Amino acid sequence: MTQQISSVIGGAPVTADHGGRTAPSTNPSRTDEVIAEVSFGDASTFVDAAAAAKEAQQSWAQIPAPVRGRAIAQIGRAVERNKESLARIVTAEIGKPYTEALGEVQEIIDTCDFFLGEGRRLYGQTVPSEMPDKQLFTFRRPVGTVAVITAGNFPVAVPSWYIVPALLAGNTIVWKPADYSPAASAAFFDLFVRGGGLPDGVVNIVHADGPQTFAGLQTALDQGLIDKIGFTGSSDVGREVGALAGRHLQSACLELGGKNPMVVTTAADLDLAVEGALFAGFGTAGQRCTSLGTVIVHESIHDEFLSRFAAATAAAVIGDPTQDVLMGPMMDAKFATRYEEFLTAVQPHHRVQGPVGRITADNPRDGFLGDPAAGLFYHPVIVDGVRPGDQLFDNETFGPIVGVTAYRDFDEAMELANAPGYGLSCAIYTNDAREAFAFRDRISAGMVSVNNSTSGAEAHLPFGGNGKSGNGSRQSGVWVLDQFTRWQSMNWDYSGKLQKAQMDVAELVGDTEFTLD
Ligand code: UN1
Repeated sequence: MTQQISSVIGGAPVTADHGGRTAPSTNPSRTDEVIAEVSFGDASTFVDAAAAAKEAQQSWAQIPAPVRGRAIAQIGRAVERNKESLARIVTAEIGKPYTEALGEVQEIIDTCDFFLGEGRRLYGQTVPSEMPDKQLFTFRRPVGTVAVITAGNFPVAVPSWYIVPALLAGNTIVWKPADYSPAASAAFFDLFVRGGGLPDGVVNIVHADGPQTFAGLQTALDQGLIDKIGFTGSSDVGREVGALAGRHLQSACLELGGKNPMVVTTAADLDLAVEGALFAGFGTAGQRCTSLGTVIVHESIHDEFLSRFAAATAAAVIGDPTQDVLMGPMMDAKFATRYEEFLTAVQPHHRVQGPVGRITADNPRDGFLGDPAAGLFYHPVIVDGVRPGDQLFDNETFGPIVGVTAYRDFDEAMELANAPGYGLSCAIYTNDAREAFAFRDRISAGMVSVNNSTSGAEAHLPFGGNGKSGNGSRQSGVWVLDQFTRWQSMNWDYSGKLQKAQMDVAELVGDTEFTLD
């Protein structure tokens, strides 16, 4: 029987009177296979979930942080025990190759491993006062209730980046996962709630479409039920979410799109650069926010790089994501449709390497594993000759398409790398330390790789971007704690008299005439 999925609020599944629409979630590599039936809620479902989270928040925050840390430890172990099962669901529901899906699940475990000990730290400071018999302190306080809205390309890892530290810090959650990955999010939800022994209402899950979520979020903010928003998705929607948060005097944690450049200099190991470009461009079928956008390669090695990159791409294995493949299908029909639109942006001055479009019997792919007609499989595409002003150069293109362009000198490489105005991830391939550090200094991105892919960040470094990629917020590691806590300062005067700061401060008077001669 097909798995039935619904929103869960305050520990109880939501029955069909909210919204009422049900839809199947299908396997993108075999689109006639239904993974689950999901019942979508509406704006009021979101508001009810926010109210449940609000109600649960005080008592969750009163549980000592080290005990909350133990819950995170148990969640990590529950995910570890179920690593293969969860990865299989991810592969079946969004078509991510199984080895990548295992890596994605590992990212949850890594995040839990990092934060389980943070429950015993969550350090504040003791600070000297400018006056005697007075002591200053700082404390981290939870923000309150957090709305977490995530995409489906990392249906379980990215939610954990928000939910794990937010819970650890004493916040409660309303989570709205992507509408095309309900089975993966339901499995994640169960592992967190059951594995961690979380009280009802601490994490609530709402299945709803974008417009209903936005309407519900707006109402919940108006009613004071949401104190923080974490959003991963497109730059366009992120702008709206950020504006909504700003109108409520909040700053959202935004993780948005990327047009991630890879600069390949004359000092690069070319084979290494090709290997990096192949994974960065076509891993997850190019559907990571960290996927490679444009390779910016020195003109003297451009032709050689291009022919090696095209050869590696042609030789890569594509197909059934349960097998050992570089790339599976697009995650969902809506991404396939959008990807086809990106392909129409190829212009006459571009040189396209290899076949383009959907893989079919008439448009075959050598060495394809499985039945291409059964799923949403596309040829990986390299477009040479992209320049600023081209849609393919300027904008994020979510899918297996990589642009290539040539540069003359390092200044031009930097100009091209920064031109699209995103700023999430980037890479340089060079064995010249001066080039590597100059690149780091001048690139706008929040994450810089040297001789490594643009994608594949480790789970305990700050993750986030600038410009069109975000508002400067950072996830992961200790840095994310500033998203889910607010600093509170305390001063305690035990002198028994009013000592006024700045005014009643002792001064040591130096001899202004003093010299050594
Ligand atoms: C995303 O695509 O939203 O660095 C996240 C990476 C992964 C996470 C990507 N660890 O590519």
